[in-house]
Amino acid sequence: MSNRHFSDILQNQFHSAVSNPELNLIRHLKKVHGSESQLVSTTICTEALFPLEEYLKSIGTHPDPVSDESYYTFDFAKDKNEQAVFPRISAGILEFMYENTPFRVYIASWTCGYNDYCFYGLVFTASTDDVGRELASEVYKYGSALKEEIWVYEGGEWAKSSVLFHAIKRSAWEDVILDEQLKEDLRRDTQTFFESKEVYGALGITWKRGLLLMGPPGNGKTETIKALLNKFGYAALYVKSFSTPFQGPEHGIRLIFNHARKHAPCVLILEDLDSMVTPKVRSYLLNELDGLAQNSGILTIATTNHPERIDDAILNRPSRFDVKYEFGLPSLDLRKRFALRWVDKVQSSNTAASSGEGLMFGDGEGDRIAGEVAKRTEGWSFAFLKELFVSYLLRLAHDRSLRKSKIDTANVNPHLEDVLMDQIERLSAQILKLQASAGKDSVEEDDHDEDSSSSSDSHN
Ligand SMILES: Nc1ncnc2c1ncn2[C@@H]1O[C@H](COP(=O)(O)OP(=O)(O)OP(=O)(O)O)[C@@H](O)[C@H]1O
Ligand SMILES: [Mg+2]
Repeated sequence: MSNRHFSDILQNQFHSAVSNPELNLIRHLKKVHGSESQLVSTTICTEALFPLEEYLKSIGTHPDPVSDESYYTFDFAKDKNEQAVFPRISAGILEFMYENTPFRVYIASWTCGYNDYCFYGLVFTASTDDVGRELASEVYKYGSALKEEIWVYEGGEWAKSSVLFHAIKRSAWEDVILDEQLKEDLRRDTQTFFESKEVYGALGITWKRGLLLMGPPGNGKTETIKALLNKFGYAALYVKSFSTPFQGPEHGIRLIFNHARKHAPCVLILEDLDSMVTPKVRSYLLNELDGLAQNSGILTIATTNHPERIDDAILNRPSRFDVKYEFGLPSLDLRKRFALRWVDKVQSSNTAASSGEGLMFGDGEGDRIAGEVAKRTEGWSFAFLKELFVSYLLRLAHDRSLRKSKIDTANVNPHLEDVLMDQIERLSAQILKLQASAGKDSVEEDDHDEDSSSSSDSHN
């Protein structure tokens, strides 16, 4: 069948209201190719689920388009009675060899109502349809396997992200500074979950677990998740919101959990849970978290800055979020450990960048300076502490370039420790401003932050 002929079939197919476009396409293809040909077909909602061309290329086969116009699109006006399939159809025919069998694949994608469809009809000559089924199953497997990627749900669909995968690869567990007990509990709770399938089975309970990481912004919730993911190597599914473009967040929740069940054992990450759980989606989420469907092999890790905004049924009922971790503002000791890490980084980066200008702070001074920073930064988050050192390094780089270009002024090379302390003063002013505006927005939030801060101190 030529491209033109395929196009005619599609024209007839989509021109009027039809109840099952897929079935009609199959019928036409069967009629055209006759009984000596086999047909294996699939219809999916996004091409990413059946990456036929990508798979063929991965095994060294390059499909050829049939004629120049192999991919074309044409539009139909929306039918008056809204029953019709509309509006954009794109289609094409490809040919290739697979397992010594010549294949021809008819591809058509269209939109019906709010849904997208993509049809692949694999036609080949053989005594059984085995080779076509095998190919389809390999393409599906290839499509759902992660290759240096993680799954990200956004705007109504799941996509693989290699950018996030590589960001995760840069996060090391050793670099996360937390109270030792908290860190050990987290490691144990996550690692043992994946090792304990049999234990759950023997106890007759579903092999699933939910962790909630709570606390004010910038204290390592996301950083911890990234470092944990890096450690286990299980499939990771990252959710930014429950939204879908047309069908509402309830549908999004169903898509999210169906995908997680398909990829279990896996880690399902729900970031900023409080902003996701609106009254409208509450019962849907409860249903998916522990309704009839089995979530075996799913470790759900959620984060929130505002646990008080999350419905009690989700927050406090076991089997939904079994364990809660408080990521409060860092204590004096944690601030010192974090500062020491950065003082070391600053020392080594300066030695490398200044090529011989020498160490930034005197030899053996690191510990004292980190202690001084920790003392002066009470109430700061880790993220602000990090900002302190980053802005400090930038300022030094700026001063260095002024010196190099001989725009020497008296202030260009002040005492380095003074520069650091000066940066603390500046950032403190910013933090105070932020806290004041947060206080205006919500007095309760401030109360919560203080609670978290004291609880973090109580770890020590
Ligand atoms: N405990 C920590 N150990 C090491 N680095 C940290 C820690 N906490 C925060 N950081 C640094 O601060 C940055 C921001 O932290 P992170 O994104 O983990 O905060 P968060 O708790 O997820 O905040 P939010 O609630 O706003 O999402 C991180 O990229 C990391 O560099
Ligand atoms: Mg975060």
